[in-house]
Amino acid sequence: MKTVGLTKIYGGRIKALDGVDLNVESGKVFALLGPNGAGKTTLMRILTTQIKPTSGEAYVFGLSVVREGAKVREMVSYVPQEMSVWTDISGYENLLIYAKIYGIPPSRRNKLIWEALENMGLSEFANNLVKTYSGGMIRRLECACALLTRPKILFLDEPTIGLDPSARKAVWERLSIFRKENGATIFFNTHYMDEADLYADEIAIINRGRIVALGTPESLKHSLGGEIISLEVEDSAFGSKVLEAIKGLDVVSDIIMGGNEVNIVSRDAEHSLPEIMDILRLNGVSVRRVSITKPTLDDVFLKYAGVRLEPVAAGRISEVRHVRSMIRRG
Ligand SMILES: Nc1ncnc2c1ncn2[C@@H]1O[C@H](COP(=O)(O)OP(=O)(O)OP(=O)(O)O)[C@@H](O)[C@H]1O
Ligand SMILES: [Mg+2]
Repeated sequence: MKTVGLTKIYGGRIKALDGVDLNVESGKVFALLGPNGAGKTTLMRILTTQIKPTSGEAYVFGLSVVREGAKVREMVSYVPQEMSVWTDISGYENLLIYAKIYGIPPSRRNKLIWEALENMGLSEFANNLVKTYSGGMIRRLECACALLTRPKILFLDEPTIGLDPSARKAVWERLSIFRKENGATIFFNTHYMDEADLYADEIAIINRGRIVALGTPESLKHSLGGEIISLEVEDSAFGSKVLEAIKGLDVVSDIIMGGNEVNIVSRDAEHSLPEIMDILRLNGVSVRRVSITKPTLDDVFLKYAGVRLEPVAAGRISEVRHVRSMIRRG
């Protein structure tokens, strides 16, 4: 899968994608990580031929999504961000409807449906109404629907949004089995940093329609160049003079600011901490809290996107969680 200078402008004014260049090797799990409105769903819709780009190119297995849409659709499956199953019928019946929509011949339907159910760990619930399923089971059923066509590349828009940690894990365990058995590529969008970290071979961080960082989870964290000393300070007291003095320390490779929080990247955090505290004391800066941590993707995101991811995401996630919990209650 490859994009070159991919741009999407909605209604002549909203630039959802702004020159996206990506290259995803087949067989890999690729995560697109970004806040609300970053352009994740837009990119996925273009790659699955649902909408056309304004400019630029996108290819799936070498096929242009614009000029060879029909061929691309034979290879891809897509699980949308929104609910895509009916809750007043059984899991099996949902799969049967999708099998018909996908044009799977009647003679092959039953076998493929049971394989997809088995793949997602839903066989014993096949004949239960979907409204009795948990949120995680619903998501796994949606994945099962997408697996019916044995896609070479599976696009998942927020596969675990609103699920609790054990349900999220179950979804990913099932997806990993599918990928290993079929050698398929998985391309997913997420707000969850830990999910990208755990399950993706490669991650692209997207913010305001632009890819701001790209690499394996390890290389992204490594790119920060050391451990992170996080200081919570009284922000008015923190001037550029203090910053310069800290930057001047040999082992300090970067300073990442985030509101009242100052994150100092140091190649030797333990030894530089006393020196940093001295500088702060001399300049009358009071520190509320100090911690030393290994870099996380959260720190990577803050560095490249300039904001922390979580708070921005809360609104939309709780909406989906609400919708999904209503469904669970029936
Ligand atoms: N059909 C549309 N018409 C106009 N603007 C749109 C349309 N779809 C998306 N947008 C805008 O394009 C930008 C990117 O939206 P997109 O849905 O791709 O982001 P996202 O990263 O998937 O966000 P979320 O995390 O909330 O799902 C946003 O500013 C959004 O409001
Ligand atoms: Mg989206």
